[in-house]
Order: sequence, then C-alpha cells, then structure tokens
Amino acid sequence: MKVLGIDIGGSALKGAPVDCRTGRLLAPRFRVETSPAATPAATAKVVAEIARHFKWRGPIGIGFPGVIQGARIRTSANLHPRFIGCDGGKLFTRATGCRVTLTNDAAAAAQAEMQFGAGRGFQGKTLLLTLGTGVGSALCYRGLVVPAELGHLPRRGKSAERFVSSAARKRRGLSWAEWGGELGDYVRSLEQLLWPELIIVGGGVSAKSRKFFRYVQPRARMVPAKLRNEAGIVGAALSFGRHGTRVRPGRGRA
Ligand code: BGC
Repeated sequence: MKVLGIDIGGSALKGAPVDCRTGRLLAPRFRVETSPAATPAATAKVVAEIARHFKWRGPIGIGFPGVIQGARIRTSANLHPRFIGCDGGKLFTRATGCRVTLTNDAAAAAQAEMQFGAGRGFQGKTLLLTLGTGVGSALCYRGLVVPAELGHLPRRGKSAERFVSSAARKRRGLSWAEWGGELGDYVRSLEQLLWPELIIVGGGVSAKSRKFFRYVQPRARMVPAKLRNEAGIVGAALSFGRHGTRVRPGRGRA
C-alpha cells in the first residue's frame, strides 16, 4: 500500500509518499516551514499544500505531537492550544479530500523503527524516546506499539520535557555532560517502572548520540534511531488505519 506520510512539528511539516511494504520514500520529502503558533486552520492549509505537491488522492497518515484518541486531538503541549479538542481527522480530511488517519508522532516513529529501523526483528520490550521540542515516547512489545506521554512525567513541579528535551538543552545552555546526566536521571526513573530491554532514542539530536549517550548510563541497551528524520513520515504512513479512527471525506462535517 502507498500512503502519504506527514509529520507535523513545531517548526516544519514534512511529507512524502511511502511504500508501506518496504518503508521506503517514493519521492524526496517535501518540507514546509511553519511556526508553533500556527492555528489548526493554518496547519490544515499546509497539509493540503503537501498533498497537492504530490498530486495525492490516496490515503494520508499524519503524525501529530499530542495525545490522539480516535480522530480527536486531546493535547497540544508545544503547538497552538486551539488544537486541543479538535477533530483532526475531520480537519485534515476536509482540507485534502483524502482519507486521513492521525497518530501520535512518537508512536509513528516507533512503528517505523520497529518495522524498518533500530528495533527491526526485536520482540522484547522496547522504549522509544524522541528528543526534540518535547519528549515523545512509545512502548513496543511483540509487534505492538503503545503511545505514551512519558515526557510529562513530573519533574521539579513541571513536565520532564522542560528539562530533558533537546530544546531544553539549548534553552538552558547546558553542556552535553550536564544535559546527558539529567537525561540519565530521567531515563533511569523510567526504567524503574518499565524495565525496557532496548531503548531507541530518536529526534534530530540522536544523530549526535556520541556526544551524550555515555552520560546517560541506562540499564538497558540504548541505541540511536536508524531512520533519523524519515521515521516520522514513514511511521505516520505505516500507522494509517492502525491507531485512531479512519475518517472518510464528506462524513460528519464540523
Ligand atoms: C507531546 C507528545 C509528543 C512529544 C513529541 C510532547 O509534548 O505531549 O504527544 O509525542 O511532545 O513531539
């Protein structure tokens, strides 16, 4: 099956058609810069622009940085607050005229890594963390991917992602050792509860794993994600029809 995968992020939306049997992009990815302040309506326009760019009429899988229940977006920690409660399935279906499925962005990345990347063939309990503007997470076990919100584990009265995301490292001006140490503390607290056998670290900063992995010192084996900045797109496409509800064009106008 060919699905257009779209990854919604705070600074850009990225998309490409994906061959779901191989996990390969069928065309170079198309990236459109946006801002974290973009409203749902503005974001829907960009999603439609990406679909038009590929002259797409088929299914679309979208990864979104928030809790997704059915087709509804429940949280939006780092994007516009107006996304909260919004029926994302309807919004993006109306904008594109295509069938759309929404998935949490980290769950999408986990799906891609387990099928085609660093977790390929591994059936044991795996924790995937994405370190970007926020911290995304998903648990994988015997082929099943469960979205999680471990970035919001309380830490000093706030969400942990305020301290251990890649954006937090930059904002706080921390050295790799300082940030890696704090990340290690956080990862070990997750390990105490979840006992993963494998931890996959994604997000742009995973390309620099040599700079900070040695400070984290987890109990489990920890590896960088393999699909790098394609994981979100590939995973969003793979997740089409898996998580959430598929919304058909023309159904239930908002
Ligand atoms: C959101 C998650 C998302 C993560 C990475 C967090 O702030 O709550 O749903 O997966 O950021 O984008």
